[in-house]
Amino acid sequence: MAYRIHEDRLGAAFGCAADDALLRAGLRAGLPLAYECNAGGCGSCKFELVEGEILDAWPAAPGLSERDRGRRRYLACQSLPASDCRIKMIGRGDASEAPLPERVSATLEAVEDLTHDMREFRFRTDRPANFLPGQYALLSLPGLGSLRAYSMSNVANDTGEWHFIIRRVRNGAATSLLFDLRPGARVTLDGPYGRAYLRTATARHVVCIAGGSGLSPMIGIARGLDRLGPPQDGSFDFFYGGRSADDICGEMMLRDLPRLGGRLRFHPIVSNEDARWAGRTGMVHELVADLPDETFSRADFYLAGPPPMAEAVVSLLARGRSVPAERIHYDRFF
Ligand SMILES: Cc1cc2nc3c(=O)[nH]c(=O)nc-3n(C[C@H](O)[C@H](O)[C@H](O)COP(=O)(O)OP(=O)(O)OC[C@H]3O[C@@H](n4cnc5c(N)ncnc54)[C@H](O)[C@@H]3O)c2cc1C
Ligand code: FES
Repeated sequence: MAYRIHEDRLGAAFGCAADDALLRAGLRAGLPLAYECNAGGCGSCKFELVEGEILDAWPAAPGLSERDRGRRRYLACQSLPASDCRIKMIGRGDASEAPLPERVSATLEAVEDLTHDMREFRFRTDRPANFLPGQYALLSLPGLGSLRAYSMSNVANDTGEWHFIIRRVRNGAATSLLFDLRPGARVTLDGPYGRAYLRTATARHVVCIAGGSGLSPMIGIARGLDRLGPPQDGSFDFFYGGRSADDICGEMMLRDLPRLGGRLRFHPIVSNEDARWAGRTGMVHELVADLPDETFSRADFYLAGPPPMAEAVVSLLARGRSVPAERIHYDRFF
């Protein structure tokens, strides 16, 4: 069963199945709706319910304040329709070059451990995998009532391959299930989503900055860049922050890239004191701060990781080094 949703800000209507979220149905219809995480955390997809009824899949989602709740505001990524509705999005979205998201069934083909808690999962779908480098998909796992976002570490392909580098979270509901999956397991995959994709039209000097599980989309950006050809100024900076020496990985994947590998400058840093670590200790934004001024004045910056890391890096770039917003690309992880 599908309901009709009218969005007042754009003056547009779209159909939304009873088991779909308003945000995702609107994006499937090609509407430029505001969003970022798709996971109830950022609050970018807030809307006001003007008429109709919705089912709130996660009433306690942190992206909504008590004040919002009192004003009939909801999160479009957590709202399922229970009738035809009229809504008004609070934020303004941008048009995207990305393919429209679809829900498809996927089979786990292989897994590979990268560190003590990071694993690459390789899924395959029956149709081509269409997405832009750096985007993410939502996985629906058997036995878990809610979706989780994971970013692709590979690039679009006709053979239907979707690769994700995923960090196991202690007692995490989704990652506990994921790390128990064996090849042959089936999941539902919904995507692609995300605004922090590689901008091909402006492929200047690119700097990638990842913290923890943010490695996956940054590897995806690097692979996408590699497909485009050598960077104009001959270098490629990749920053990766972990807690200890055991967390640092990804350099070999990057060095293997046929075009970019030889030009890579890999900058790892760990935040905890670790006797086994001979490199820099501190937070990843402290290392980024050491880049030459000319890099800040012309590079495109892509970053991914937990909100405190993203906020520290964005603050350094935007306020500390005056990098304009159109050269900073990120989707916060929640
Ligand atoms: C855009 C984006 C991209 C991401 N990409 C990656 C990636 O490439 N690799 C990676 O390892 N991690 C990634 N993450 C993080 C990932 O989605 C999970 O948050 C993480 O794996 C922990 O999930 P968990 O269920 O194991 O942990 P838990 O601690 O059980 O759950 C953590 C998260 O689940 C969500 N959640 C909790 N309860 C509910 C609910 N009732 N309904 C809906 N959501 C709920 C919240 O977002 C919460 O922060 C990404 C997150 C986002 C937003
Ligand atoms: S809370 Fe809905 S997109 Fe982040």
